[in-house]
Amino acid sequence: MTGTLSRLNAPEHTCQRRSLGNLFDRSALQRLTPTVRQEADRLLDDLAEGLRRGEADFASIVSERLPIATVGAWLGIPPEDHSHILEMTHDQVYAQELLPTGSQLAVSAAATARLRAYFTALVAGRRAEPREDVLTGWIHAWDALEPDRERADETLYRLVMFVTIAALETTGTLLSSMTSLLAEPGRWAWLRSHPEHVDAAVEEVLRYDPPIHFNTRIAARDTVLAGVPIPKDGMVHVLYGAASHDPRRNPDPETFDIGRGGGHLAFGSGVHYCLGAALAKLEARTLLTRMLERFATLHTVTPPVYAARMVFRRVTSLGVAL
Ligand code: HEM
Repeated sequence: MTGTLSRLNAPEHTCQRRSLGNLFDRSALQRLTPTVRQEADRLLDDLAEGLRRGEADFASIVSERLPIATVGAWLGIPPEDHSHILEMTHDQVYAQELLPTGSQLAVSAAATARLRAYFTALVAGRRAEPREDVLTGWIHAWDALEPDRERADETLYRLVMFVTIAALETTGTLLSSMTSLLAEPGRWAWLRSHPEHVDAAVEEVLRYDPPIHFNTRIAARDTVLAGVPIPKDGMVHVLYGAASHDPRRNPDPETFDIGRGGGHLAFGSGVHYCLGAALAKLEARTLLTRMLERFATLHTVTPPVYAARMVFRRVTSLGVAL
């Protein structure tokens, strides 16, 4: 993973990031909106089916499926491969944990090899049969930037693989946390009568309980950050979750308050700022709006169950009912 976008420095990082362009600008989001709506409605039909029988698991029926359905449609990944990609992603993320065990690293290494095989074949397939799509655009961009075809394909594989896996568990966890925090009788009824606050509700969920709790960086040189001296090669754990709960930035931070208008670091900051933030918010906003319209009395019946992880949080189940 050290060769993927989030771990690169300038000038490689600048070059790769520029090659992708502004992935989710206004017009890209407009093009994707009908897809996200359609996929959200399809998954909510599945949820409604489960709810007819009583309790349903929101995480496996909706949260984990919407991000792969959206990114799959965007990148042209066939629906029959979506479950396989989710499985590989669940196994891969251990390599990015703070203190993975030897066996977790082995699971992660095997998943990384499977991801490489899958996404290398995806790039090769698109080269053989170009389409009018995002991936074909990246292939053209890298063919112009890198005369060595093998190196271009290696970069393309890393980019498409990383963008995909960066989009899945993160957004899935946001959708589950959003439902767990908002589908509570008082808040749900209030939001139903104030749908204009849906965006603010999503922002407060991101602040209160971000999907990624921290990121690790290594200092390239001796430096001082916020008055703290950091030696060259010193390891810095940036605690996004704690930062968003800093009372100097968000007074009374443990209170969940849709009206606070507070800031957060859920998508990081600076040159590595999340490339998919706008897409994740589009998915959350669309899903929440449709749920409020369709399920007047949705509420959680069992609290979210989390995978035992610290960096990439993952909700494995969340019981809901009507
Ligand atoms: C709620 C959902 C998401 C959260 C919480 C999230 C969070 C983050 C964070 C914390 C970073 C690191 C920023 C830094 O180092 O300063 C990041 C980077 C990144 N994210 Fe996201 N992300 C989400 C969704 C997505 C989606 C949907 C995509 C793609 C479609 C995506 C693609 C990326 C990429 C490519 C990077 C690396 C950017 C770089 O290093 O230049 N993310 N994200």
